[in-house]
Amino acid sequence: MRFLPRLLLAAALATTTLLGCWLLLGGHRDDPTSRAEEAAPLTLDTFLHVQQLRKKRLRAFCSHSAKVATLPESHEEQAHMLSSVRVSTKLDFLYCQVPATGMEGWQRLLEKLEEKENVTVPMPLPYPRQHALQTQLSKFNQTMIEAMMGSYTKVLFVRDPFQRLISAYMQGMGSRPSFSSFVQDILDRGQHNASLESKPLVSLCRPCLIQYDYVMMFGFLRQELSHLLHRAGLPKDIHLPEFTDTQVQWTYKWLSEQLFSELSLKQKKQLSRFYRWDLSAFQFSNSLLSDLLSTPETW
Ligand SMILES: *[C@@H]1O[C@H](CO)[C@@H](O)[C@H](O)[C@H]1NC(C)=O
Ligand SMILES: *[C@@H]1O[C@H](CO)[C@@H](O)[C@H](O)[C@H]1NC(C)=O
Ligand SMILES: *[C@@H]1O[C@H](CO)[C@@H](O)[C@H](O)[C@H]1NC(C)=O
Repeated sequence: MRFLPRLLLAAALATTTLLGCWLLLGGHRDDPTSRAEEAAPLTLDTFLHVQQLRKKRLRAFCSHSAKVATLPESHEEQAHMLSSVRVSTKLDFLYCQVPATGMEGWQRLLEKLEEKENVTVPMPLPYPRQHALQTQLSKFNQTMIEAMMGSYTKVLFVRDPFQRLISAYMQGMGSRPSFSSFVQDILDRGQHNASLESKPLVSLCRPCLIQYDYVMMFGFLRQELSHLLHRAGLPKDIHLPEFTDTQVQWTYKWLSEQLFSELSLKQKKQLSRFYRWDLSAFQFSNSLLSDLLSTPETW
C-alpha cells in the first residue's frame, strides 16, 4: 500500500476505535445512528419478513448448487464438515463460529445467559443434558448431532466476504506488505487451504445441510438479535451487549472502496469467483464483488 492510503487507513481505524470507546461509555445516546434506529425500530413483522426473504434466497441457492445436504457417514468427515458449528446445550442454540461476523458479541451473550441459573428454555431433546456448555457440534455422536440439528434454534451470522477479508487484513497490519499481496496469497492458496478468516461462509457453515432458522446480517445485529431472543423464548430484560456493527459500516464502506482500488482487475475477478457461493447464497447490498460476478449460474 502506498504511504498516503496507509496513513488514511490508520486514521480511520483510530476513529473507529475512539468511536467504539465512546459507545462503550454510553455516548451512543446522542448518536444520530441510534436516534435513527429509535425513530424507525425494526418491527417484529419486518424482521420475520426479512428472515423469510433471506431463507428463500438460501433455499434457491441450495437447490441449484451441488452443496452437501446430508450428513456424511464417517465421523471424521462429519468433524471436518462441522468444525465451525457450535452448540449451547443449555440454551438449545446452534450457531456457526466465524470471526468478524458479529458472532463474538452473540457468543458473549450466550456465555452470560448460560451462567444464569434462571434462564431455561423448553426441553425439546429426549436426551439428558450435557455438562459441557458451548461446544463443537462434531463432539457428539451422530444420533445427537441429528437431534440437535433438528430441534435447536439455529443461527447463522453473515457478512460481505470482502469486509471479512479487510477485517482479517487489518488484524495482521504491519506484518503484511500490501493488501494486494495479501489477497494474492489467499487466491494462490485456494479454497481448500483457506484460513478460517478467508474461507467462504458456505464452506464453513454448511447452510444447505443445516437448515438455519435465522440469518443475521452484519450491520443490523442489535435490532435483529433482540427479536431473535424474544422469539426464542428468552427473557425480555436481557441486557444485550453493545454491537458496534452498525457504526463500523461506514468505515468499512470507505475502506472497501480504497482497498478494492488497489487490486488488479484479474484479482477482483478471481476474488468474486472465490466467493461466488457466498455472493449467491446471501444478499449483501452494495458488495463490490457482486458486480463482477458475471455468471452467477455456474455454481
Ligand atoms: C432469578 O429470577 C428472579 C425473578 O424471577 C430474580 O429475582 C433473580 O434475581 C433471578 N436470579 C438470577 C441469578 O438471575
Ligand atoms: C449418543 O449419545 C447419547 C448421549 O451421550 C447416548 O445416550 C446415546 O446412547 C448415544 N448413541 C449412540 C448410538 O451411541
Ligand atoms: C495446500 O496445502 C498443502 C499442505 O500444506 C499443500 O501440499 C498443497 O500444495 C496446498 N495447496 C495449494 C493449492 O496451495
